Formats: sequence, C-alpha cells, structure tokens
Amino acid sequence: MKATAKARANIALVKYWGKLNTDLNIPAVGSISITLDKLWTETEVEFGKSISADTFFLNNEARKDQLDRVISCLDILRSHAKVSYAARVVSHNNFPTGAGLASSASGFAALTMAAARSLGLNFPPNKLSIIARQGSGSAARSIFGGFVEMHVGSKGDGSDSFAEPILSSDDWPLEVVVAITERKEKEVSSRIGMAKSELTSPYYGEWVKTSPIDLNSVREAIQAQDFEQLAEVAELNCLKMHAVAIASQPPLVYWNSATVACIHAVRELRRSGIPVFFTIDAGPQIKAVCTPGVSKNVEKVLRDIPGVLDTLVTGLGPGVEEI
Ligand code: PMV
Repeated sequence: MKATAKARANIALVKYWGKLNTDLNIPAVGSISITLDKLWTETEVEFGKSISADTFFLNNEARKDQLDRVISCLDILRSHAKVSYAARVVSHNNFPTGAGLASSASGFAALTMAAARSLGLNFPPNKLSIIARQGSGSAARSIFGGFVEMHVGSKGDGSDSFAEPILSSDDWPLEVVVAITERKEKEVSSRIGMAKSELTSPYYGEWVKTSPIDLNSVREAIQAQDFEQLAEVAELNCLKMHAVAIASQPPLVYWNSATVACIHAVRELRRSGIPVFFTIDAGPQIKAVCTPGVSKNVEKVLRDIPGVLDTLVTGLGPGVEEI
C-alpha cells in the first residue's frame, strides 16, 4: 500500500489571512493563486501492518515538529478508508522549506494525494482539496494547476470550502521570477501569524470586509487576461495583508531590506512599461509575476539587488499528480 504524488507550490494573488473556523481550518476570506511549475514537493506514503508508528521525513530528516499536522491529515484519510495502519511518509522539496515559498501548500497537497491513493481512495479533486485544506489552507489550491480560486463556502462544516480552477496556464502562460532573500525557515509561521492578526490587528476587520472586492476584481482580470488590472489589485491586496500583519501585536514584519528594495525595483520596472508586478507571502521572498517575454529582463534586475541570494524563473504548472 504505497503511492507517490507530486504537487507544486502556489502563490496567492489575493491572499488568505485569517480563519473562520480553526478546528476545520476554514478560511475567513477566499483567495486566488497561481500554481508554479518549478517549485514542487514529492511525497511517498506507505501504509502497512508492519509499520508500528507514523513517521515523517522531509529532505532526509525526521521532522517531529511537523508530525502532528501530518498525522491529522493521515487520520482523515484513514477514517475514510476505515483502516488503522500506521504510515511512513517520505517527502522532498526542491526549494527552501518554510521560508515563505508555500512549501506547506505543495507539501499537504502531495501528502493528501499520495495517502489517498495508497489507501485505494479515488477521490475527485474537490474532495482532495477539502482534505488538503485541513492540513494547510493554501494546500487546497495546489490540488489544481494554472489560476485557482479558493472558496470560503457557506455551509459551516467545510464541505463547500474547496478550491476550483479559473483558467488554465496554457490560456495565459504568465511567468514568475522568484527572488530568494533568505534561506532560513521563518520565525513565525503563517498559521501562528494569522491567528495573532485576528486577535490583535486593528485592520483585521477591514481586511475581511474588503477581500471580496479584490477577489472579484482579480477574477475578472484573469478571465479578461487584463494584466494591468491584475497587477494593480494583486499588489494592493498583498500590501493590505502585510499592513494587517505589521499592525499585529507583537508586529509581524516578514520583510527584510532586500524585500523592500525588490518592491521598489518592480514598481519602477512597471512604470517604465514592463508588464510585471510583485507579491509576497508570509516571508521575505519576492515573487515578480510577468509576461513570458520579459522574465529574463526582470530576473536580471532582481539578481543585482543587494541581499538577493538567488533567483529562479518558473512558468505556471499543473495540479497534483500521482507519479
Ligand atoms: O496555508 P498556510 O497556513 O501556510 O497560509 C498561507 C498564507 C499566505 O501564504 C500568506 C497567503 C496565501 O493565501 O497563501
């Protein structure tokens, strides 16, 4: 009873920050993301009578700190399959873990698919999305490729809180230049950060209230392939999320000086007519989203900024797959 799955990271153009229900991990706001082809997690899950306890290895290291979250996801699938076998989970990320590059998104999407398939569960994508959501909110989106929207849902039990594709990557093949400004894992995870913002940020209520406006506008921009509108609203939404985080107690400043320098560089490039905009998740890395013709140019500019350790260019990728 063994299966392997590969899932890609995604970055949010309209962010998820805050929860409606912590136990079921239902987000307080919808979100829209793009799935990135070259940043992925591969996970092998093996269930068996001979395995005495659940174990989790990430990049060849036992990660006891992450084991409870992995077990919660395995438990959901074990209860669907009506089995109680323990599992051995072995996972690899081809990019830095826990540094604001959405490793939990690709990680839980790959885990959900691999664990389901190894238990012989042939769930449709929206069901996988619901299960992945319970591991990590953003993982619900990595089940799908291209442009993806995550719904809050209205049922309260999480059964309609899943992601759905909006547009395929072939229809609008944007590219992303990722500028890595820090390789270490961040000090405050998204999960803890958003809980602090909910409780302490004076802007949290406005954030939740105005999120549907950004969602509608970004969805429309994607459907119309209107880059300028997408750029304006995605940058605004990103800065709003960080404003909420920065105003939390204690303050959550995920950026470093290279992050800020990259923000200015990307805005300057756009002012000079280059179709590019930035977004930043809960970490110091910058993701510059652009049309394919300009990605080399954008990479060249970002690579030369002091504090940028590395850059990579990726197109948009497919959803989770069994391999
Ligand atoms: O899925 P989590 O719990 O890692 O939270 C993701 C939060 C952000 O990356 C900051 C925003 C998002 O929508 O991905």
